[in-house]
Amino acid sequence: MDTTRRIGNLALIGFMGTGKSSVGRQAAEVLEFTFLDTDVLIESRAGASIYDIFQQQGEPAFRALECEIVQELEQRDKIVVATGGGLPANDANLASLKKHSLVVCLWASPETIWERVRAHSHRPLLNQPDPQAKIRELLAIREPYYRQADVLISTDLRSVREVVTQVVHQFREAQAGRR
Ligand code: S3P
Repeated sequence: MDTTRRIGNLALIGFMGTGKSSVGRQAAEVLEFTFLDTDVLIESRAGASIYDIFQQQGEPAFRALECEIVQELEQRDKIVVATGGGLPANDANLASLKKHSLVVCLWASPETIWERVRAHSHRPLLNQPDPQAKIRELLAIREPYYRQADVLISTDLRSVREVVTQVVHQFREAQAGRR
């Protein structure tokens, strides 16, 4: 890893349903960092739910808010940030996260993702006739971005606790300059 990088924060990227928020919240507790979720930051800035932002303003407006929030994170220290699934599929966003964070991607197969998200209706991109095909399509488009993470962890067969342990271990190694 580039030794000139400042690794003060931990950023979790990955597709919807890979556990970024649950893992991030617990990792922040262990590290005694502040937990942030870009979707929550966007909702409070817009005064509207993600679903309503997509419906009323469209996806480009949502993506613009993501870029704004990502830039602001560059000023923060000791944070664990869980990012929206599409946020790193943008070179500038990924580069921005890498300026200050160890970027960890949580991975899952399309089948696992579907099992985890099928009960939830708040994700606008999956609100369509064939959500499983959409998952496969988006995953294929985003995979090259997700693979640029510093660390890739498969969550298919791991509990949230196990993933947290791995993530925290990788972060501590990176901070100690051992990665
Ligand atoms: C999105 C993922 C969602 C949210 C929005 C768009 C995406 O976040 O940002 O619905 O493009 O994959 P989660 O990954 O936290 O579900």
